[in-house]
Amino acid sequence: MKSVGTIGAGQIGSAIAQQLARLNIEATLANSRGPETLRDQIRQWGPSIKADTREDAVAKDIVFVAML
Ligand SMILES: NC(=O)c1ccc[n+]([C@@H]2O[C@H](COP(=O)([O-])OP(=O)(O)OC[C@H]3O[C@@H](n4cnc5c(N)ncnc54)[C@H](OP(=O)(O)O)[C@@H]3O)[C@@H](O)[C@H]2O)c1
Repeated sequence: MKSVGTIGAGQIGSAIAQQLARLNIEATLANSRGPETLRDQIRQWGPSIKADTREDAVAKDIVFVAML
């Protein structure tokens, strides 16, 4: 399985992450303010989604860019 990252965790990034979570696909979500600001948001989506830095998310095999 290829690794997935999403830069941006707003409407679009969250929608992508929630669909990946529903399919139990692991993905890393990043925003501009740092992973600690996403902890509460991702907790409700299940264990396949984690928050990390932009540098970590952009290093994945597949990267969605969803920032304003
Ligand atoms: N929403 C739609 O219906 C829609 C439709 C078509 C196209 N789009 C396009 O999709 C993109 C995302 O839209 P959205 O509605 O999801 O926006 P949004 O809800 O405002 O979310 C923007 C996200 O981008 C992050 N971000 C901003 N600057 C960043 C940076 N330098 N590094 C990392 N993350 C950064 C923000 O993080 P922070 O909150 O930490 O700043 C936030 O998580 C935009 O380009 C928009 O034009 C959206």
